[in-house]
Amino acid sequence: MKLKKNLVAATMLAGSMTALSFLSAGAAQAQGALVMYCGVQEEWCRAMVTAFERETGIKVSMTRKSAGEVFAQVKAEAANPRADIWWGGTGDPHMQAAEEGLTVEYTSPRMSELQDWAVRQWEQSKKRTVGIYSGALGFGYNTELAKSNNAGELKCWADLLKPELKDEVQVADPNSSGTAYTLLASIVQIMGEDKGFEYLKALHKNVNQYTKSGAAPAKAMAQGETTAGIAFMHDIVTMVVDKAPVKVVAPCEGTGYEIGSMSIIKGAKNMESAQKFYDWALSADAQKLGAEAKSYQVPSNKSTPIPPQAPKMTDIKLINFDFAKYGSSEERKRLLSKWDNEVKNLPK
Ligand code: F6P
Repeated sequence: MKLKKNLVAATMLAGSMTALSFLSAGAAQAQGALVMYCGVQEEWCRAMVTAFERETGIKVSMTRKSAGEVFAQVKAEAANPRADIWWGGTGDPHMQAAEEGLTVEYTSPRMSELQDWAVRQWEQSKKRTVGIYSGALGFGYNTELAKSNNAGELKCWADLLKPELKDEVQVADPNSSGTAYTLLASIVQIMGEDKGFEYLKALHKNVNQYTKSGAAPAKAMAQGETTAGIAFMHDIVTMVVDKAPVKVVAPCEGTGYEIGSMSIIKGAKNMESAQKFYDWALSADAQKLGAEAKSYQVPSNKSTPIPPQAPKMTDIKLINFDFAKYGSSEERKRLLSKWDNEVKNLPK
């Protein structure tokens, strides 16, 4: 009975919290503030909001979501956009949104401060999305669990197929997660499409869970819930910095990488604030906030120091990732539906 009462109270509280966040989003728009969809780790999202509010006095209403989820939401809201700025998350859905006309062209006065790869992203999207950081995909493993499972040392993508890792590998679902879509696109580029899908089907046998967010497997590995986890290497480094018994691996066959991106939503109700945020987020100082929030990507502003913890891109065998192709609407839709049909629902 008491439990039931608590449940009712919790439901009412959740309802009023939803109403409150809805109201605050409305208020933000009324004051010409900023509504932001954020695609990185919650800690970094919050640090950006606090610093921007302090610097400009503009109130920010922020929601954190995975890359594919933000894309779906921006698309669903296209007729009456709720958000003004989409900051962070892998570049592919930003590219797709650019192609589908869901975001607008913008030329920041800070473009000359950026690394070439960040500017190339902007050029390839016809000025609709810009690179804010980059990071390589990899995997990690919990050394204690690997030992108890007799999995040995793991160095290559091929090692994740070991029978000792049955139900011991975790990775996100590429429909919701930009990390997992980067895996899908990278494997296809490294192995070719047919062999790549054979690999993903074999990997499926060892996968214990397809999570919603890309960094969740890194956390699960650190907490001893899975032996191996596929994620961006910088997200696994965060676990190592927090002293988890986890090893970070740059796969021997080579790997893909992301260009984390930022776009302004078409029809943004707070366009001026969105442009202010965009310019500020490209500044050297704003980009330092990542490392302070234990996010170890490579920043796109040339003057922002690369955090010493960031995986060294020069030590990783990086593929020549085709961002234009794998960020195109047609290719992204095709690969995701092929993965749904041929991999996700396979019996184990
Ligand atoms: O902030 C961590 C991070 O890995 C980013 O580097 C990346 O852009 C984003 O998360 C991807 O998140 P998801 O896979 O949940 O879409």
